[in-house]
Amino acid sequence: MAKKVLITGGAGFIGSNLTEALLHKGYQVVVLDNFSTGKPGNIAPFLTNPDFTLVVGDIRVKEDCQKACEGVDYVLHEAALGSVPRSIKDPATTNETNISGFVNMLVAARDAGVKRFLFAASSSTYGDSPSLPKVEEVIGKPLSPYAVTKYVNELYADVFQKTYGLEYIGLRYFNVFGRRQDPNGAYAAVIPLFVKKLMAHEAPVVNGDGSYSRDFTYIDNVIQMNLLALNTTDKSAVNQIYNTAYGESTTLNQLVKYLVEDLSQFDPKIASIEPLYGPNRLGDIPHSLASIEKAKTHLGYDPQFSMREGLKACCKWYWENL
Ligand SMILES: NC(=O)c1ccc[n+]([C@@H]2O[C@H](COP(=O)([O-])OP(=O)(O)OC[C@H]3O[C@@H](n4cnc5c(N)ncnc54)[C@H](O)[C@@H]3O)[C@@H](O)[C@H]2O)c1
Repeated sequence: MAKKVLITGGAGFIGSNLTEALLHKGYQVVVLDNFSTGKPGNIAPFLTNPDFTLVVGDIRVKEDCQKACEGVDYVLHEAALGSVPRSIKDPATTNETNISGFVNMLVAARDAGVKRFLFAASSSTYGDSPSLPKVEEVIGKPLSPYAVTKYVNELYADVFQKTYGLEYIGLRYFNVFGRRQDPNGAYAAVIPLFVKKLMAHEAPVVNGDGSYSRDFTYIDNVIQMNLLALNTTDKSAVNQIYNTAYGESTTLNQLVKYLVEDLSQFDPKIASIEPLYGPNRLGDIPHSLASIEKAKTHLGYDPQFSMREGLKACCKWYWENL
């Protein structure tokens, strides 16, 4: 029998890419989503697939979590309210979704006898720690309500393991980008936001002087990590947290340069656009660069897409789909 996997947040950017990859590999996939930031269009192609089930519901509602977990072997918990600025504007809703919703999912997974609970952790957990590259064991104090919620997720998962024996793996994602990431709305991530601006022949606005750097991680590397974490049979590899990144940093100024370079292949007018600069954003970490040694050693992680390769593929996708 094919493994049955519940993907919460499956209508979102990362969740819909995981859904597509798992269906392609022959898994049965259940998606639980309330479409708060996810899009029906992201899962529309899967609706006719007999291996796909959609549960429209909310992780803040215990019964919805229970229903979605019925008969499920594995959970990939991706549903959350992302964005540091959103959490600063509305910490209570971020907390309800990212912490209460997370606990509801842990309880439902435990009660359904789920074999392993994978979840989307975050590089924001490194907070004010200045050390680079980031290694899993050394974190600082959180700099935003969002970062608090993501750290609390890790603590809860570990406590559920110790108290109820629920197996888990937490994947600390570092600035994931790629097809289907939403370029719209006040809380859009930097890459889709800048792509949209450049495609409209407008100058992207960089927060700060552009020297802040990120370990931008292409979605296909994230898919690989999830598959490895789902399938590992090494008992010493579970109940752990792993950085999920490429392991190289890119400054915002470099990012703009690369985007201009890649998008001007499709529209030469983009080549002359220069960025504008604004103030630094509250809650932002200056530099973020992952050590991916732990994932390489314990899970056999071998990311196939560099930032540059991923960015080229991503620009092509936006050019064809925006
Ligand atoms: N994108 C990144 O760079 C990044 C980095 C670190 C961590 N993460 C984490 O990865 C996960 C996925 O992020 P994403 O970028 O795909 O975001 P996204 O907003 O595209 O996806 C989140 C999905 O969760 C759903 N959702 C939100 N609240 C819900 C609720 N109460 N009940 C049911 N569904 C709900 C949304 O509708 C959406 O489909 C999140 O947990 C996020 O915190 C993402």
